[in-house]
Amino acid sequence: MLDLTIRISKNVVRLGMYIEGIECPVSEFKRRRFMLESDAELQAIRNTSAQFVLVNCSRSRIDVTALLERANPLTKPSSNPAEMKAAIGETLKTARRGLDAAGAGELNLDDIGLAADAAIRMIDSAPDVFLEVTRLKTKDEATYIHSIAVSALMGKLATLLDMSDAEARMIGQAGMLHDVGKLLIPNAILNNPGSLTLEELKIVREHPELGYRHLRKFPDVPELILDICRLHHEVLDGSGYPLGLKADQISLPIRICTVCDVFDALTSERPYKKGWETAKALSWMFERPQLFERRLVIRLGSMFE
Ligand SMILES: [Fe+2]
Repeated sequence: MLDLTIRISKNVVRLGMYIEGIECPVSEFKRRRFMLESDAELQAIRNTSAQFVLVNCSRSRIDVTALLERANPLTKPSSNPAEMKAAIGETLKTARRGLDAAGAGELNLDDIGLAADAAIRMIDSAPDVFLEVTRLKTKDEATYIHSIAVSALMGKLATLLDMSDAEARMIGQAGMLHDVGKLLIPNAILNNPGSLTLEELKIVREHPELGYRHLRKFPDVPELILDICRLHHEVLDGSGYPLGLKADQISLPIRICTVCDVFDALTSERPYKKGWETAKALSWMFERPQLFERRLVIRLGSMFE
């Protein structure tokens, strides 16, 4: 039988895979052509500078292609709305599993990474169709679908801003986790934004800080992800929250999140409101340079032309 070797992100590597090679200098990781059996070696691979690992499917103990298929069902670019809907439905399962686990104190960055990778692939294949499907948000799916949409928009926008693949990927993961604090707030409050008391509004506005404090408890969460989670409601003129930072204190990745987050919120259709058209949302944001960096709004718009 012919050996089938595929190239996958190092974050998707699992025990039971047969590793042919790791795309990093030998000085970082020596072993080649071996069965991955120990957590220590898995961690060592994750710690290398490699982005990708070559895995031999035929020699692996686990079904590698089925695993990848489950995680990233949209293997071919698709602009067919029905296929896109099915693919987003699958990613929703991964995102829900990853975010619920994170909310419950068991963060698994692998699941978050898988969902983010799938989200970025989907928006890459057909941005308008992706947005059309994700703009519909039912009550119980809203936070998860919003996280998938923001993750995809952020990852794609990072790429359009010439960031490296590694940066864009981490920014996509940050998008997936940016609203994790909302999972710590009762649904009864989250789902009734039109009729909140001042006290309830105050609780909703605590979600960035809540999420940040929660994620900080896990040892492996990169600083960039923590910052985005805490500061994604900051805006350039200092009128945002929780810290009221001004433009020069707000880094590019945070600005990217703010722009994508607001864009998805404006274009989303919810049980209590209609979603705005893409062009209307973009021009509303463009007209508010005191809040959003215009260059980013323009780049975001370039995805949908
Ligand atoms: Fe938020």
